[in-house]
Amino acid sequence: MATWTVEPLTSPADVEAILAIEEASFTHPWTRDMYLAELENRGASHLYVARKADGRIVGFCACWHILDELHINNLAVTPAERRAGVAAALLTHVLAEGTKIGACRATLEVRQSNEAARQLYEKFGFSLAGVRPAYYTNPVEDALILWREDLADS
Ligand SMILES: CC(C)(COP(=O)(O)OP(=O)(O)OC[C@H]1O[C@@H](n2cnc3c(N)ncnc32)[C@H](O)[C@@H]1OP(=O)(O)O)[C@@H](O)C(=O)NCCC(=O)NCCS
Repeated sequence: MATWTVEPLTSPADVEAILAIEEASFTHPWTRDMYLAELENRGASHLYVARKADGRIVGFCACWHILDELHINNLAVTPAERRAGVAAALLTHVLAEGTKIGACRATLEVRQSNEAARQLYEKFGFSLAGVRPAYYTNPVEDALILWREDLADS
């Protein structure tokens, strides 16, 4: 049985936990100001966290809802809690909530070498739609553009 719950991030105080996961996960982590701006942008921006029973935040997902599209901007799980289904729970929740507010399709970008994330997204029905050459830095790498159509069918 899952030992975490997925819920919207509402408190600026919880941004610190997200920043720690960012630091441990990405070579170009988003900053505190970027997350505080996301929290302010309530119209389009949606932030979700996976929280353990003891209250600790172990994963998060940041996305935008634009017209009928869900743009997944960031998703990460704290290294010690990976391979336990946290990202799958977050994505399931985010796609379901996106569908409820009118999204029909979802998109994201992923580093070509990020096998873990690519397998995760493939499992959720995302498929390759394009490549942005040298999109990422540190190290320089192509971004794969993935789309998942027909969100309401899941
Ligand atoms: C990618 C990431 C979010 C996966 O989180 P997670 O909680 O470990 O993933 P889950 O346990 O929910 O795994 C769900 C599925 O994803 C795939 N997957 C996850 N980690 C994997 C890995 N290391 N290798 C291969 N497949 C993997 C598998 O298909 C897995 O299903 P399975 O466990 O039944 O095989 C996590 O590794 C992470 O935070 N990475 C750094 C940040 C990042 O790359 N984010 C994505 C940016 S686009």
